[in-house]
Formats: sequence, C-alpha cells, structure tokens
Amino acid sequence: MKTLIKNGTVVNSTGTASADVLIDGEAIAAVLAPGSTLLGFDLESNVDSVIDATGKYVIPGGIDAHTHMEMPFGGTFASDTFETGTRAAAHGGTTSIVDFVVQYAGENVIDQFQLWHEKARGNCAIDYGFHQILSDVQDSSLTAMDELLKEGVSSFKLFMAYKGVFLSDDGQIVKAMQRAASNGSMIMMHAENGSVIDLLVKQAIAAGNTSPIYHGLTRPWQAEEEATHRAIMLANLTGAPLYVVHVSAKQAVQQIAAARDNGQNVFGETCPQYHYLSLEEQLGAPGFEGAKWVCSTPLRSREEGHQHHMWQSLRTNDIQMVSTDHCPFCMKGQKDMGLNDFSKIPNGIGSVEHRMDLLYQGVVDGRISLERWVEVTSTTPARMFGMYGKKGVIQPGADGDVVVYDPNGHTSIGLGKTHHMNMDYSAYEGFEIDGHVDTVISRGKVVVDDNKYLGTKGDGKYFARGLSQYLI
Ligand code: URP
Ligand code: ZN
Ligand code: ZN
Repeated sequence: MKTLIKNGTVVNSTGTASADVLIDGEAIAAVLAPGSTLLGFDLESNVDSVIDATGKYVIPGGIDAHTHMEMPFGGTFASDTFETGTRAAAHGGTTSIVDFVVQYAGENVIDQFQLWHEKARGNCAIDYGFHQILSDVQDSSLTAMDELLKEGVSSFKLFMAYKGVFLSDDGQIVKAMQRAASNGSMIMMHAENGSVIDLLVKQAIAAGNTSPIYHGLTRPWQAEEEATHRAIMLANLTGAPLYVVHVSAKQAVQQIAAARDNGQNVFGETCPQYHYLSLEEQLGAPGFEGAKWVCSTPLRSREEGHQHHMWQSLRTNDIQMVSTDHCPFCMKGQKDMGLNDFSKIPNGIGSVEHRMDLLYQGVVDGRISLERWVEVTSTTPARMFGMYGKKGVIQPGADGDVVVYDPNGHTSIGLGKTHHMNMDYSAYEGFEIDGHVDTVISRGKVVVDDNKYLGTKGDGKYFARGLSQYLI
C-alpha cells in the first residue's frame, strides 16, 4: 500500500516546509518538494491512495508517554481498556502510547510485565510501549530492571506518595536509582510527600471536610515542591537521571529548572489539566461535581498562577513535554465511591483523546509555536523514551505515523461530541478548539478519517524502546 499526502505543510520540531509525504507500506519513504517526481515517475499516478492536505498541517503522530489503561487503582480499574483507550487516542491524533505496568508490594515485576502484555496484545488501535512501576524495591526488582531493559522497558516509575499502595521509602528509591545510574535507564517520579498528605487528609476528614476540594487542599504545593527537591537530591547523590511526572506546581517547576541549570539530568512532564483546569473552578465545583477532577498531583489554584506558569515553562523548556496521565474513572460506580469522603474518590482524569487539540490551542493563543507543539507532544516523548527515528518525526525511514491536522477546522469537546473514551463525563465538557484532527495514519494505515474509525483492534503493536536520547 502506497499513500501520498500532497500539498501539505509538514511540521517537524525542527521546522516547517511545504512538502509531499510518500508512505510505502508501514514507513515513510520520502519527503519531497510538492509535485516532485521520483526517479522520473509521477507519484500521484503510482500510489494506491492520495490525501490532499492543501491548507493543512502534516505532523508526526502524537505520543502520549503517560497512560494507565485498565489500571487497578483506588479499589477499581481505570475505565478505559487498551482497546477503548487506544481507539480514543487515535481519534485525537495520538499514534503511540507508553502505559505503566503496575507492581504492587510483594508482586513479581516480571510476572506483572507479562500480565500487561496479555492485557494489551491484540487489543490496541495504535502502537504501545511500557514503563514499569516499582513499589517495594525487592532485590529481584533490581535484577528485573536489567532484564526489562532488554525487553524494551527503559524507564521505571517510583512513588513518594500513596503509603501502603505504591510508596517507596527513600532507601528503596536510592536502591532503584543506583541501578538506573548503572544500567542507563530513566527513573520517573511521582513527587508528593506522602506522609504529610496522609496526615492532612486524616485531619480534614476528622474535621468533617469531606468534599472533593479537600483533595486539593490536603495535597498542597509545598508537598509537591519538597518531594521534587528530595527526588532531585537523591538523583544527584546516585547519578540517576530523573523524569518528574505530572508536575502541577510552579514551585516544583522551579526546582526542576534549578537542577537543570546545575547540569543535572532532570526532566519535567506536565499534563493538559494543569494548563487549563483549576482548584477553584473544577475541584471546587458545587456538591460532588469536583470529583470529576480528582487526580494527583492535584489541580492547582489559578489565583496562585500555576496554570500561567505551566504554559510559560513549556515555552522556555523548563518543562520538556506534555502527556495526559490518562487514568479515567466514571462518576457512576467509581468516582462516587468517595461521595462522603474525598479520600475514597479514585484518583485520575481521562484526556488521551484531547491532548493534541488542547495543546494546539496554545499555538492559536500565541503561547507556544507550531514547532514547539509538535516537539512537546511527539518529538520529545520519542527522544525521552527511546523511540525517536521510528516515532516523533516525519522523515524517510520513520514509521508511517502521520496526522493531517486542519488549522481551520474546529473541535467541540464533550460527551456525544468528540468523545470516544469510556467515561460518563468529559473533564473538558464544552471546550471549543480552533483546529481539527482530520486524518490519522498509523504505520501506513489510515485508522481515522473525518471522525470515522477505520482501524481494527490489534493494529497497534508493542514497541520495544531503547535508551533515552537525552542521556550520555
Ligand atoms: O491521579 C492520578 N495521577 N492517577 C494515576 C496514577 C498516577 O499517580 O499517575
Ligand atoms: Zn503519579
Ligand atoms: Zn500516572
């Protein structure tokens, strides 16, 4: 199958050019000046299909490097399966995800890795890779870190919060960091001070403060800044590279920026919810509504300026990339477990379908450039997590993961609109975006066109990742 995407504006993180893109089989074969011939052959009459991208952007498929499909968490499971979640991702212009294999205390890391393969294999609409969560860091977990590297897992997530669930103590964190420093892998950190949060939660519940806004009020920015600083110091001590996930507090960004200025391999990820949503407006919505936006790290105060700072940090590269932390739960039967106690609301927000559009709005609003949009949503995730070359770029030899994006199109977000995620609400209900995902191609196959899904479950294959390109 040969596809020619003609007359589009190809946007890579490195620049923008008018060009035709030829996809042959599963890979990009050529990027040519518009109307070019190849070895004397007129392209248009020698391909199986032609997509006219006049007036549109042709970008590398989005990479969402932080998702939790069907994650067992908070006494339930994230409501998107690998099938529903990756299909929704495809609708939104994302052609790869990196999901998290979960290891709870006492479980064997390699067994869990195999279990996650079974969950995903044959079910995904787009390509997928895995990070590995480590909770208790057993001796066998350290050996597993070496083994998993060979299986294409080059990043390991640890938690400084969720005592009795995921939390690793500082000694366990140091052990895992020492191994990462020696085997070249990346440590990902959920940076919140769990002991402080647990105390504040207990105190809030005892005082009768049980509504969703207290989720945010009991996870203050100081708990995020302190843990971020501690993680940076432990990484400094061990020489491990550190990638701080779902950063929401401007003070945590400042810690990351200072460490980077100091020459340390520290990276920061944020998520669309921390650009758009706030403690006051969403978590503080009347009644139990705020439960829709209970996630950790929590939404921050707009009055304190975190959202503005997040856009600014993305522009200045104090924050390197944007993932969703897609971890959806329905209001009915899941979020409502915490009706009388915010601490029982499952933590997570779903937005795997909307990341590309939500960030594109930053281009429209003049907050980031077009190239930076591609960089933070596709190229940097590919480089950060050992996928670059095949993913994250439009160039010959790369996988045919391409999105035709219409800057003059329009996207209305909400249930019954662009929503394909398995959620009974949208965290972005009523958002109107200037821009539209027209066509999504995954390894040479058109999987979404004009809002219609044309793929089949199982199109997506496991991607064995290499080491991060940002490390030497
Ligand atoms: O609230 C969140 N973020 N849920 C998913 C688990 C995690 O910490 O990433
Ligand atoms: Zn986390
Ligand atoms: Zn997460």
